[in-house]
Amino acid sequence: MNIKCHSKNDPNKIAIIGAGGVGATTAYALMIEGIASEIILIDINKDRAEGEAMDLNHGSSFVKPVEVHAGDYSDCAEANIIIITAGANQQPDETRLDLVKKNTEIFKQIIPKITKYNQDAILLVVTNPVDILTYVTLKLSGFPKERVIGSGTVLDSSRFRSLISRNCGIAASNVHGYIIGEHGDSEVPVWSLTNIAGTKIDDYCPICDGDCSSNNRDQIAHKVKDAAYEIIERKGSTFYAVALAVARIVRAIIRDENAILTVSSLMEGNYGIDDISLSLPTIVNSSGIAKVLDLPLNKEEKDQFVNSAITLKETAKTLDL
Ligand code: LAC
Repeated sequence: MNIKCHSKNDPNKIAIIGAGGVGATTAYALMIEGIASEIILIDINKDRAEGEAMDLNHGSSFVKPVEVHAGDYSDCAEANIIIITAGANQQPDETRLDLVKKNTEIFKQIIPKITKYNQDAILLVVTNPVDILTYVTLKLSGFPKERVIGSGTVLDSSRFRSLISRNCGIAASNVHGYIIGEHGDSEVPVWSLTNIAGTKIDDYCPICDGDCSSNNRDQIAHKVKDAAYEIIERKGSTFYAVALAVARIVRAIIRDENAILTVSSLMEGNYGIDDISLSLPTIVNSSGIAKVLDLPLNKEEKDQFVNSAITLKETAKTLDL
């Protein structure tokens, strides 16, 4: 475990950089969650940030007390968590990795503006490609690795659990399973550790009402991997589920939960991988990343995880950081 960071920051003050669909919906999710005392929306388009803050504030009589306002980078001072959602969005036919050059350039502008005012916050990166941009943020900020977190595959793990939940007729909260690796095309479903009521999914199958064939498992994994493409094709972008995933991570930090979440963080020899950020089940608490767990994956999962890391490392190598 790492030593907790006792900074001068207000534990419940959260800044959100980028007030587009993901940023504004994250503010909304945090408001409903009732854990922030202050939420600041910062966007290059100040009118947009102000409009979103006004709209959110008008619901304040229905939620726990929270002040939502538009601000600028100086308002990051004293924020405990700074959530970064700014950047270009994935277009139909674009992969998350296609965005890397554009969004790295945007991060080169944004990160120094944040660190000018705050050196103690936890930086929570959501912009895609989230793993590369988490690594870029780590390099640009110079912050300790514990305090640079990517939303990673928290959303994919939720998609995975919800599809298994529907297949098996069990509440998603009672299905435990992880997607690891890149938040993107090379992500890895960890079937070997997936369990229901403490029972490995293979052993649960005889009493499961759903389709436990390997064909259906493959379909579930494909649906998780392709979920964002499917949604973008229909409505142009995704924001509700990712906002809930971000609110879940924020709660684990603010409440010092020691929750296990598949956030993205710097690898340090995990399954032999170094010097890139990607997702593994990780203990998250008020210090940020408390511990990355190297769980006993089977050989195929381990190999796929290593391949996912290699894909990301090759992309990171092309960047001028
Ligand atoms: C998604 C975006 C957030 O998977 O990457 O919906």
